[in-house]
Amino acid sequence: MTILVSAASKHGATAEIAEAIGRVLRDRGLAVDVRPAENVTMVEGYDAVVLGSAVYAGHWLEPARRLAHNEATALAMRPVWLFSSGPIGDPPKPDEDPVDVAALIEGTGAREHRVFAGRLDKHLLGFAEKAVVLALRAPEGDFRDWAAVEAWAADIADTLQN
Ligand SMILES: Cc1cc2nc3c(=O)[nH]c(=O)nc-3n(C[C@H](O)[C@H](O)[C@H](O)COP(=O)(O)O)c2cc1C
Repeated sequence: MTILVSAASKHGATAEIAEAIGRVLRDRGLAVDVRPAENVTMVEGYDAVVLGSAVYAGHWLEPARRLAHNEATALAMRPVWLFSSGPIGDPPKPDEDPVDVAALIEGTGAREHRVFAGRLDKHLLGFAEKAVVLALRAPEGDFRDWAAVEAWAADIADTLQN
Protein backbone atom coordinates (compact mmCIF):
# COMPACT_ATOMS: atom_id res chain seq x y z
CA MET A 1 0.00 0.00 0.00
CA THR A 2 1.46 3.36 -1.02
CA ILE A 3 0.17 6.61 0.44
CA LEU A 4 0.49 10.06 -1.11
CA VAL A 5 0.91 12.93 1.32
CA SER A 6 0.71 16.17 -0.61
CA ALA A 7 0.41 19.77 0.50
CA ALA A 8 0.47 23.30 -0.86
CA SER A 9 2.64 25.65 1.15
CA LYS A 10 3.81 29.18 0.51
CA HIS A 11 6.38 29.65 3.25
CA GLY A 12 7.19 26.07 4.25
CA ALA A 13 5.19 25.59 7.46
CA THR A 14 2.52 23.38 5.88
CA ALA A 15 5.14 21.45 3.91
CA GLU A 16 6.74 20.53 7.24
CA ILE A 17 3.37 19.30 8.55
CA ALA A 18 3.10 17.07 5.46
CA GLU A 19 6.62 15.75 6.18
CA ALA A 20 5.64 14.98 9.78
CA ILE A 21 2.53 13.09 8.64
CA GLY A 22 4.66 11.17 6.16
CA ARG A 23 7.18 10.23 8.87
CA VAL A 24 4.47 8.81 11.14
CA LEU A 25 2.94 6.77 8.32
CA ARG A 26 6.40 5.46 7.35
CA ASP A 27 7.19 4.57 10.95
CA ARG A 28 4.03 2.48 10.87
CA GLY A 29 5.40 0.49 7.95
CA LEU A 30 3.48 2.18 5.14
CA ALA A 31 5.13 3.24 1.88
CA VAL A 32 4.75 7.00 1.58
CA ASP A 33 5.51 9.70 -0.99
CA VAL A 34 5.49 13.26 0.36
CA ARG A 35 5.19 15.64 -2.58
CA PRO A 36 4.32 19.33 -3.02
CA ALA A 37 0.84 19.68 -4.54
CA GLU A 38 2.24 21.65 -7.48
CA ASN A 39 4.28 18.58 -8.49
CA VAL A 40 1.36 16.15 -8.48
CA THR A 41 -0.88 15.75 -11.51
CA MET A 42 -2.31 12.29 -10.81
CA VAL A 43 -3.14 10.22 -7.77
CA GLU A 44 -3.32 7.00 -9.75
CA GLY A 45 -0.94 4.43 -8.28
CA TYR A 46 -1.64 5.57 -4.72
CA ASP A 47 -3.93 3.61 -2.44
CA ALA A 48 -4.78 6.54 -0.20
CA VAL A 49 -4.18 10.28 -0.20
CA VAL A 50 -3.62 12.89 2.49
CA LEU A 51 -4.00 16.34 0.93
CA GLY A 52 -3.49 19.65 2.67
CA SER A 53 -2.96 23.33 2.17
CA ALA A 54 -1.94 26.46 3.96
CA VAL A 55 -4.84 28.91 4.22
CA TYR A 56 -4.54 32.45 2.90
CA ALA A 57 -7.41 34.93 3.09
CA GLY A 58 -9.77 32.08 3.91
CA HIS A 59 -8.80 29.87 0.98
CA TRP A 60 -6.62 26.90 0.15
CA LEU A 61 -3.68 27.62 -2.13
CA GLU A 62 -4.26 27.08 -5.82
CA PRO A 63 -2.04 23.97 -6.33
CA ALA A 64 -3.99 22.02 -3.68
CA ARG A 65 -7.36 23.23 -4.96
CA ARG A 66 -6.34 22.32 -8.50
CA LEU A 67 -5.26 18.83 -7.48
CA ALA A 68 -8.48 18.23 -5.52
CA HIS A 69 -10.55 19.50 -8.41
CA ASN A 70 -8.74 17.83 -11.33
CA GLU A 71 -8.41 14.49 -9.55
CA ALA A 72 -11.82 14.51 -7.84
CA THR A 73 -12.99 11.32 -9.54
CA ALA A 74 -9.80 9.39 -8.73
CA LEU A 75 -9.77 10.76 -5.19
CA ALA A 76 -13.37 9.70 -4.62
CA MET A 77 -12.29 6.11 -5.37
CA ARG A 78 -9.66 6.12 -2.59
CA PRO A 79 -9.57 6.87 1.11
CA VAL A 80 -8.78 10.59 1.37
CA TRP A 81 -7.98 12.82 4.35
CA LEU A 82 -7.76 16.60 4.07
CA PHE A 83 -6.04 19.10 6.30
CA SER A 84 -5.74 22.86 6.42
CA SER A 85 -3.08 24.80 8.21
CA GLY A 86 -3.38 28.46 9.00
CA PRO A 87 -4.89 29.62 12.24
CA ILE A 88 -2.30 31.34 14.41
CA GLY A 89 -2.15 32.53 17.99
CA ASP A 90 -3.13 30.93 21.26
CA PRO A 91 -5.96 30.04 20.95
CA PRO A 92 -5.50 29.79 17.16
CA LYS A 93 -7.61 32.20 15.09
CA PRO A 94 -9.62 32.30 12.88
CA ASP A 95 -11.57 29.33 14.14
CA GLU A 96 -13.89 28.83 11.19
CA ASP A 97 -13.10 26.36 8.39
CA PRO A 98 -11.54 27.72 5.18
CA VAL A 99 -14.13 28.78 2.62
CA ASP A 100 -13.37 25.95 0.17
CA VAL A 101 -13.46 23.07 2.59
CA ALA A 102 -17.09 21.96 2.38
CA ALA A 103 -16.85 21.70 -1.42
CA LEU A 104 -13.46 19.97 -1.19
CA ILE A 105 -14.84 17.35 1.18
CA GLU A 106 -17.81 16.75 -1.05
CA GLY A 107 -15.78 16.66 -4.27
CA THR A 108 -13.14 14.24 -2.99
CA GLY A 109 -15.34 12.16 -0.70
CA ALA A 110 -12.83 12.83 2.08
CA ARG A 111 -13.25 10.88 5.30
CA GLU A 112 -12.17 13.80 7.42
CA HIS A 113 -10.87 17.35 7.35
CA ARG A 114 -8.63 18.62 10.10
CA VAL A 115 -7.41 22.15 10.81
CA PHE A 116 -3.93 22.53 12.32
CA ALA A 117 -2.45 25.73 13.70
CA GLY A 118 0.24 27.31 11.55
CA ARG A 119 3.32 29.49 11.71
CA LEU A 120 3.72 33.17 11.01
CA ASP A 121 7.30 34.33 10.51
CA LYS A 122 7.33 37.96 9.38
CA HIS A 123 10.82 37.59 7.92
CA LEU A 124 9.46 35.18 5.32
CA LEU A 125 6.59 37.41 4.17
CA GLY A 126 6.39 39.65 1.13
CA PHE A 127 5.47 43.33 1.39
CA ALA A 128 1.72 42.86 0.77
CA GLU A 129 1.56 39.94 3.21
CA LYS A 130 3.31 42.00 5.90
CA ALA A 131 0.73 44.76 5.39
CA VAL A 132 -2.15 42.30 5.84
CA VAL A 133 -0.58 40.79 8.94
CA LEU A 134 -0.02 44.25 10.39
CA ALA A 135 -3.59 45.35 9.64
CA LEU A 136 -5.01 42.21 11.25
CA ARG A 137 -2.55 42.40 14.15
CA ALA A 138 -1.85 38.74 13.60
CA PRO A 139 0.51 37.28 16.19
CA GLU A 140 3.92 36.10 15.04
CA GLY A 141 5.16 32.68 16.04
CA ASP A 142 5.14 28.97 15.40
CA PHE A 143 1.85 27.59 16.70
CA ARG A 144 2.06 24.19 15.03
CA ASP A 145 0.94 21.41 17.36
CA TRP A 146 3.16 18.50 16.43
CA ALA A 147 1.50 16.15 18.91
CA ALA A 148 -1.89 16.82 17.27
CA VAL A 149 -0.42 16.30 13.79
CA GLU A 150 1.26 13.05 14.77
CA ALA A 151 -1.82 11.73 16.57
CA TRP A 152 -3.93 12.41 13.47
CA ALA A 153 -1.39 10.64 11.25
CA ALA A 154 -1.37 7.67 13.64
CA ASP A 155 -5.20 7.50 13.39
CA ILE A 156 -4.90 7.44 9.60
CA ALA A 157 -2.36 4.62 9.81
CA ASP A 158 -4.70 2.69 12.14
CA THR A 159 -7.58 3.09 9.71
CA LEU A 160 -5.50 1.96 6.74
CA GLN A 161 -4.06 -1.02 8.54
CA ASN A 162 -7.30 -2.37 10.02
C1 LIG B 1 -1.27 37.38 4.27
C2 LIG B 1 -1.69 36.22 5.11
C3 LIG B 1 -3.02 35.84 5.15
C4 LIG B 1 -3.43 34.74 5.92
N1 LIG B 1 -4.74 34.38 5.95
C5 LIG B 1 -5.13 33.34 6.74
C6 LIG B 1 -6.51 32.96 6.80
O1 LIG B 1 -7.38 33.54 6.15
N2 LIG B 1 -6.85 31.92 7.58
C7 LIG B 1 -5.92 31.24 8.32
O2 LIG B 1 -6.28 30.30 9.02
N3 LIG B 1 -4.60 31.56 8.27
C8 LIG B 1 -4.20 32.59 7.49
N4 LIG B 1 -2.88 32.94 7.43
C9 LIG B 1 -1.89 32.19 8.22
C10 LIG B 1 -1.13 31.17 7.36
O3 LIG B 1 -2.02 30.25 6.80
C11 LIG B 1 -0.11 30.46 8.26
O4 LIG B 1 0.90 31.38 8.52
C12 LIG B 1 0.40 29.17 7.65
O5 LIG B 1 1.07 28.41 8.64
C13 LIG B 1 1.33 29.44 6.48
O6 LIG B 1 1.70 28.23 5.90
P1 LIG B 1 2.87 28.09 4.85
O7 LIG B 1 4.16 28.50 5.55
O8 LIG B 1 2.86 26.65 4.48
O9 LIG B 1 2.55 28.98 3.70
C14 LIG B 1 -2.46 34.02 6.67
C15 LIG B 1 -1.11 34.42 6.62
C16 LIG B 1 -0.73 35.50 5.86
C17 LIG B 1 0.72 35.88 5.82
